[in-house]
Amino acid sequence: MSDMAVTREMFDQVMVPNYAPAQVIPVRGQGARLWDQQGREYIDFAGGIAVNCLGHCHPALVSALKEQGEKLWHLSNVLTNEPALRLAKKMVDATFAEKVYFCNSGAEANEAALKLARRYAIDNFGPEKTQIIAFTQGFHGRTFFTVSVGGQAVYSDGFGPKPADIDHVPYNDLAALKALISDRTCAVVMEPLQGEGGIISPEPAFVQAVRELCDQHNALLVFDEVQTGVGRTGALYAYMDLGVTPDILTSAKALGGGFPIGAMLTTSKIAAAFKVGTHGSTYGGNPLACAVAEAAFDTVNTESVLNGVKEREAWYREGLDAINAKYGCFEQIRGKGLLLGCVVNERYQGRARDFLQAAMEEQLMVLIAGANVVRFAPSLVITKEEVAEGLARFERAVAKVVNG
Ligand SMILES: Cc1ncc(COP(=O)(O)O)c(C=O)c1O
Repeated sequence: MSDMAVTREMFDQVMVPNYAPAQVIPVRGQGARLWDQQGREYIDFAGGIAVNCLGHCHPALVSALKEQGEKLWHLSNVLTNEPALRLAKKMVDATFAEKVYFCNSGAEANEAALKLARRYAIDNFGPEKTQIIAFTQGFHGRTFFTVSVGGQAVYSDGFGPKPADIDHVPYNDLAALKALISDRTCAVVMEPLQGEGGIISPEPAFVQAVRELCDQHNALLVFDEVQTGVGRTGALYAYMDLGVTPDILTSAKALGGGFPIGAMLTTSKIAAAFKVGTHGSTYGGNPLACAVAEAAFDTVNTESVLNGVKEREAWYREGLDAINAKYGCFEQIRGKGLLLGCVVNERYQGRARDFLQAAMEEQLMVLIAGANVVRFAPSLVITKEEVAEGLARFERAVAKVVNG
C-alpha cells in the first residue's frame, strides 16, 4: 500500500466540494465501532447511512469478498455469472418478485424502475401514459430523473430543464393523490417510510389506498426500499409488514452490506417491457458485488436477525425515552426497526446538526434527516453493549446541547 501521508485538508484540495465530511478520517472498523487515524474509537450509529447492515468487517462478508476476490471480479453483461444468478434466485424466492435487474446504487435502481414504468405504460397503454406521481420530501437518488422524482427542490433545481410529467403530492395525503391520479398516470413512486425526508411512516390505510388507486388506473406502484430494505425495519422488506405488494421494488444500500450494489425487482409481466438492449449498466451484477451481497442477504434474511432488529429497536426506544425524560428536547421518537428519528422540539428547531456535532465530540456517529431529526441507522446486529455505550455517549451529547 502507498505510504503517502493523508490529511483531512487534502479533501478540500483535491475533491469536488459537493460534500463537507467530518474532520476525522476513520481507518478501521469492527462491528459497530470505528477508529480514526489517531486511534480514537467511535461507536457507529450511522452505519454508513443505513448501508453497513452487519456492521464493519462482518466475518461472513469478509470471507465472501476474499473467496470471490480470488476467483473472478468482473465480466460485464456480455456474460452472466454464478453469484449474480444465485443472488437473483434468492431475492426472487424471498419476495413478490419474479425478475431482478442489478446495478450499482440506489439512484441507478430507481432510474431503472422509472424507465421500466414509463416503457411498460407506453407499450401497453399508449404514449400519453407517462405521468409519474411521487411525494414531497421524498428522496430517490441524485441522477437527474431521480432528483426530479424526489420531492425536494434543493436537490433538483438549478440544473436546467427537468424530465417532464412528474408531479408531487404530500405524503399520507390521500385526497391530494386522488385528485391528481388518472388513467394517464404511469406510476406512483414512494418510500414505504420516508428516510431522508425526516423518518416519516405512512399510515397503513394510506398505503393500501395508494395500491387500490394504482390498480384502478393501471398505474404501477413503485416502492423505493433503498433505505428501508434488507431488514432495516425488521422485515426483509418494509412492504412485507404493510400488507401491500408493489409492482416494482428498488433495493441498494444494505444489499451489499457496504459493497456497492443495487437491484430492481419486479414481476415477469412488467419486466418484459425491457427487451435486450433497452437498459443496462457495465458493472450491474458484477460477481464480486453479488458474492458479497449474497452473503449479506443470507445473513440478514433469518428469523434471528430480523427479530433481533425489533429487539434492538426496543433497546433504542427505551434508552432514548429515558434521555428525553431527563432533557426534554425531543418532541417524538419515530421510525421503525433500526431506522429511528428523534424529532427536536420547538426549542431546538433547525438544530439537529448541533446534536450530531456534539455526538461526534463524544465519539459517537449519528445522522440527521433534515434540520429537525437526529437519525439512527446502525448495524442490524449491533450488540447490547454497543447500544448502551452509544446511548451513554448520546446522553452526554444531548446534555451538552441542552446546557449550551
Ligand atoms: C430512499 C432512497 N432512495 C434512493 C437513494 C439513493 O441511493 P444512492 O445514494 O445509493 O444512489 C437513497 C439514498 O439515501 C434513499 O434513501
